[in-house]
Amino acid sequence: MEMEQHAPIPSHVAIIMDGNGRWAQKRSLPRFMGHRKGVAALKNAVRFCKHRGIATLTVYAFSTENWARPEEEVNYLMRLMHETFFTEIDELDREGVRVVLVGDRSSLSPSILALWDRAETKTAGNTALVLNVAFNYGSRNEIVSAARKLAAKAASGELNPDAIDDILFAQHLYTSHSPDPDLLIRTGGELRLSNFLLWQAAYTEIYVTDTLWPDFDDQEFEAALSAYARRERRFGRVPQKGQKI
Ligand code: IPE
Ligand code: IPE
Ligand code: MG
Repeated sequence: MEMEQHAPIPSHVAIIMDGNGRWAQKRSLPRFMGHRKGVAALKNAVRFCKHRGIATLTVYAFSTENWARPEEEVNYLMRLMHETFFTEIDELDREGVRVVLVGDRSSLSPSILALWDRAETKTAGNTALVLNVAFNYGSRNEIVSAARKLAAKAASGELNPDAIDDILFAQHLYTSHSPDPDLLIRTGGELRLSNFLLWQAAYTEIYVTDTLWPDFDDQEFEAALSAYARRERRFGRVPQKGQKI
């Protein structure tokens, strides 16, 4: 008997949540209103992933380059992230979500770091969904920091440089606890990675939609999943038997 072929569901989805500012501008609202609306879209995406059996969701919330924005916007984004995770952590925990901050912790405020320490410890044993929040994240910074950690181990004699391979390297990235993403969604229409998961996305399927992040709902997420299900992932190989060349 032939098994029914189910469309594959990605086990790790990464999202560049872009377009909050434009969403607000279109409505003649200040940019921060777009960021606030973006939090609602994020809460919905977390619920969606859990419901659809996606194991890991990694979201780009603040890049190392976003510090160059006007001070009021940066301050707003810092407060919004603090407020959001302070308010939502109990609910996320009840839902079985494990939260992890992926990013450079060295330049975040003590209050944000304390909040994340608590959130990560509280949710460490949860298995329904891993939510990686890329905050003060930049891929180059992440790769440089991994190189620095490995170099320090080599210099102290703890590590033989010949033992460094891509698996060991990935174990020194902020995302060491997660597999590489299967699907990367970018909202807001820009065709670039903006320093997000440069290492991890080597063979990730990329889906870009013009929809602005605050408007990204279940229907939009389903559209991204259907597009993913139609992709043929080859990882450098030739097509499988029976498929057209
Ligand atoms: C993404 O939305 C959120 C962050 C970068 C924090 P933007 O603020 O970049 O929105 P646009 O791209 O200006 O519309
Ligand atoms: C990427 O969006 C960063 C986040 C979504 C947090 P940006 O708006 O910062 O990216 P660019 O400037 O358009 O490349
Ligand atoms: Mg943007």
